[in-house]
Amino acid sequence: MKPIPLKDVDTLDPISEIVTMLAHQINSPLSCIIASAELSTCHADDETAIKKHCANILKCADMIRDLNRKILKIGKCCHFRTEMVDLTTLLDNCLDTFKDMYEAGHITVKRTYDFRPMPIRCNPFGLEQVFNNLILNALDAMNTVTDRRLFITATCDPAAGTASVWIRDTGTGISDSVLSRIFLPDFTTKKNGNGLGLAICKYIVEKHQGNIEAVSSEGNGASFGVHLPMKVLSS
Ligand SMILES: Nc1ncnc2c1ncn2[C@@H]1O[C@H](COP(=O)(O)OP(=O)(O)OP(=O)(O)O)[C@@H](O)[C@H]1O
Ligand SMILES: [Mg+2]
Repeated sequence: MKPIPLKDVDTLDPISEIVTMLAHQINSPLSCIIASAELSTCHADDETAIKKHCANILKCADMIRDLNRKILKIGKCCHFRTEMVDLTTLLDNCLDTFKDMYEAGHITVKRTYDFRPMPIRCNPFGLEQVFNNLILNALDAMNTVTDRRLFITATCDPAAGTASVWIRDTGTGISDSVLSRIFLPDFTTKKNGNGLGLAICKYIVEKHQGNIEAVSSEGNGASFGVHLPMKVLSS
């Protein structure tokens, strides 16, 4: 097979890069499934061994199903259709998704909305992904601290036609060396992280002709700002 020239790989757009990486990640559990299936045929008369290999096959199949779900979600974001939605309702829905988690973790949530409703034209599925990823990261960052507060602020400037959402947590914060890499696909500091959440957020926000920024220092929590035009053009 002809190798892909390096130039073509370098020019992959961020979403193709992420999908390629996810597809690549399917190879490991797939190899395990093949190995376990082969081993079961070798030990066809050993019930204990068969059970062990079947359990491994199921575990790996689950991993593939998870990766596939992620690829399908990203695919949905690529069909970039926009509609008018109320940004504050969208944010409330995202927060509700994690209600059990922040209640169980004794996390206080404070929301401040400039206006209600706050109508903006956007791809609602895409923006939900953005805010869900940011909220989940904030909850993760507060696992190891005692002061656990999450602040969601939405402001808008109708004259300028812009809306901003800030998600701030009182978690571990981010050191300078980590901060410079957090939006890169495949960058994670978590044991079970994929390092894709923020790369996907950046892709979706930029599709909306907006931008995303992170402000943090180690030990002082983190704030993520999402700045959006209120009337993004359909593309
Ligand atoms: N609120 C936060 N506080 C502290 N660190 C953060 C925060 N948000 C992101 N990070 C850092 O940025 C890294 C990248 O985040 P990102 O969401 O892209 O990936 P992840 O959370 O590690 O994995 P996943 O793909 O499952 O989201 C994290 O591993 C973490 O080190
Ligand atoms: Mg994440």
